[in-house]
Amino acid sequence: MAAASSTAGPDASEGETERQWEAFAPHLPHAFADGDRVFVMKSRGGQRGSRPFAAAYIVGEATEDGRRTVVYKDGSTYAARPALLVPIRGGGPLTLFTATTRAYRLAAATQDVGTKTLEVGCDQGEATRRLVARGCAVLAVDKAADRMRTARDAAPGATFLVCDVLCEPDRVEGKYSSVFVDINGSRAYDTVLKCVRWAERRWPAALVVVKSSEAMRMHFPGAIEVSAPARQRA
Ligand SMILES: C[S@@+](CC[C@H](N)C(=O)[O-])C[C@H]1O[C@@H](n2cnc3c(N)ncnc32)[C@H](O)[C@@H]1O
Repeated sequence: MAAASSTAGPDASEGETERQWEAFAPHLPHAFADGDRVFVMKSRGGQRGSRPFAAAYIVGEATEDGRRTVVYKDGSTYAARPALLVPIRGGGPLTLFTATTRAYRLAAATQDVGTKTLEVGCDQGEATRRLVARGCAVLAVDKAADRMRTARDAAPGATFLVCDVLCEPDRVEGKYSSVFVDINGSRAYDTVLKCVRWAERRWPAALVVVKSSEAMRMHFPGAIEVSAPARQRA
């Protein structure tokens, strides 16, 4: 399924919840199995990439030309090119890493985020509006009040909190089924890791999604060397 995975992240001190860390993207076309849940992307043709269309699950083996049969919620089926399929993860102690903003936003639009999401580093609300569109309650946090003004317009259904989570973590209250962390994905690994560890400890059952090119380089070097299929663009 995902390009790479490891049980529990590094630096996990004794007594911490064992978590699975996985690279969310890129998604390799051959890596889907019978029964996998997937999001089917709708091709927009040419260079315009694709956009999330609907959740489904895979049945059977690949056809001769490599297509996979997917079954939608209403029972209808479609023979999809694997480049248009994104694995759906969630529902358990799992942390997904992405190296790019595009993949991070794609995760917001397609993964199993549950009913309540915390987003750390909402900036101007691009991922926020994708999360709100999924129908979940979103608390969007950012330390920059000026960026948040734009986010409020972009995602009016969310709740917003101006807060530096590394300085004042206890101001973030509530229970969350998923936590999205993007506090500048290329900044120092240690800082991002501190934030990830905080989220994993506070909400041990949540799906945590992280954008960090540095973490990807350190833990999933094979994954970022492989290009994601060009079609998988949110
Ligand atoms: C790259 S932007 C996030 C982009 C967003 N994920 C998107 O899809 O458009 C990173 C944001 O993290 C915020 N940030 C950085 N450190 C933070 C911290 N300690 N607490 C809260 N927000 C933080 C920055 O103010 C910035 O708006």
